[in-house]
Formats: sequence, structure tokens, C-alpha cells
Amino acid sequence: MSPTSLESAVAHSVARVQAAVPGAAPRLAIVLGSGWDAVADGVTDSVDIDYAELPAFPLPGVAGHAGSLRLGCLAGRAVMLLRGRSHAYETGDAAGMKGAIRTLAALGCTTLVLTNAAGSLVPDMAPGSMMLISDHLNIAQRSPLHGEPGAQRFVDMGAAYDATLRDQAAAAAEDAGIELHEGVYAWVLGPQFETPAEIRMLRLLGAQAVGMSTVPETILARHAGLKVLGLSMFTNLGAGMSDQTLSHAHTLHTAQASAGLAVRLLAAIVPALVV
Ligand code: HPA
Repeated sequence: MSPTSLESAVAHSVARVQAAVPGAAPRLAIVLGSGWDAVADGVTDSVDIDYAELPAFPLPGVAGHAGSLRLGCLAGRAVMLLRGRSHAYETGDAAGMKGAIRTLAALGCTTLVLTNAAGSLVPDMAPGSMMLISDHLNIAQRSPLHGEPGAQRFVDMGAAYDATLRDQAAAAAEDAGIELHEGVYAWVLGPQFETPAEIRMLRLLGAQAVGMSTVPETILARHAGLKVLGLSMFTNLGAGMSDQTLSHAHTLHTAQASAGLAVRLLAAIVPALVV
């Protein structure tokens, strides 16, 4: 999308949201990744808008999900839930979420929670458990900011995952009795899973989780001035760490089994974040 058509798509998307929910200005938005969609069921006073009606949002089908934005109240707080994201592995383009994130920023959102399914690189961080993202490795070495003008594109990534939000999330999980690991998320382009040799490399590089999403959104959010909190749900051990053959079906199956935990975790964390 050219810069002017992106700007106009964002303006139209903002207008569409404001028409659906006059005065809508939730400061918190959450991208629901694989396994996290059940969180949307807990929203009260909800209003849904299909991505198809939001020109800045990824096209349904490309996103691989129905794709809709849900506004409402979660755990006592006004939120916008993004049900479905685009992935760089679909087209090779890492900027698929640019318009959506710019729309959130234009609506007054200040804080973005990014959730995903990931492979664990640490035997003690078992499938079914959760991890707070402390930092990331952009293994794909792609950026969603190619073509961006100005000095603003040189985004500081020194504190990409906000330390205060992490403290608030960790304390809320502990109070709720939910184990929440913390570690570094390595972004790989995919869509193929890793080889065992690649998993050994990622472990040597200091990553605890591997996945195919989130990092482009973190970069876009930091560029747009939003604070970021990242949460991974482990669906499997990395390739070669168990005798499991990896597949998307297996990822989705394990993620479904952890849906209840995802719901409880966000119900604990959402009210605790000072946004
Ligand atoms: N690798 C990459 N992405 C993933 C994995 C994995 O093992 N599990 C879930 N998403």
C-alpha cells in the first residue's frame, strides 16, 4: 500500500470504528493469536467489526482467520481485541499489520498486548505453559518499516517490551496463582518449522521461545509510540527436543487445550496494567 492509500485506509478504518462505537477510545488493544481467541468470549457489551469493513486491516483469508475487531469490556476495562492477524510467512511482507496498528494508535490506544503460540526452547517451560516476552531476536531480519520516511524509522528497540507492564503482568499472574515464565522470543519467518540444528542455534543465541509472529507488530507498535506487552503460549518443544512431529494441527490442538489458561491469564493481567 502506498503511504497515501495507507493513510486514507487508516482514516476510513478509524471512522468506521467511531461510527460503530461513538466516542470509542480504549487505551488497551490485544492481538489474539492462535489459542487465545477464547478470550474474546469474555468481552461484555461487545461490538464486532469485520476486518473486511476496515480497509487498513489485513484481508480475511490472507489472515487465515475470519478476522474481526471486537470492542467491549474485558475484566472491567475497555478493550479492542484483534481476532486474527496477518503473518509475514503468508506473502513475505512483514508490514501486513501496519494499517491495523496505525488505526489503533489513531483511535487513542496507548498499549498493545501481543499474544501468540510458540515453541519452547527450554524443557522446563513445558507445552501448555505461558511466557512473558522480555525481549526478542529478529532472526528473520525483516522489518515492517521499509519505505518509511524520516528519522522516526530508526526506532529504539532497547526497551521494546515495556518493563513496567511486564512487572505488572508478572505480579498479576503470581497473585492469580498462574505460572508465567519470562524469556526471549525468536522470530522466524516460516511457514516451515525449524530443523533441530536451527533449534540448537536459537538456544545458543539465548532464546527461550520460537515463533512466526509478533515481532513485526512490536516494531510497528514502537514506531507508532505504543507500549508493548508480549505473551507466548507454548504449544510444543522445539524441533528435535522431543520425538513429536510438528504440524499446524498439533499447534492448534495444544493451543485449544490451553484456552482456559489463556482466558484466566488475561483476566488477571488486563485489570493490572496501568495504561
Ligand atoms: N516453531 C515456530 N513457530 C511455532 C512453533 C515452533 O515450534 N510452535 C508454535 N509456533
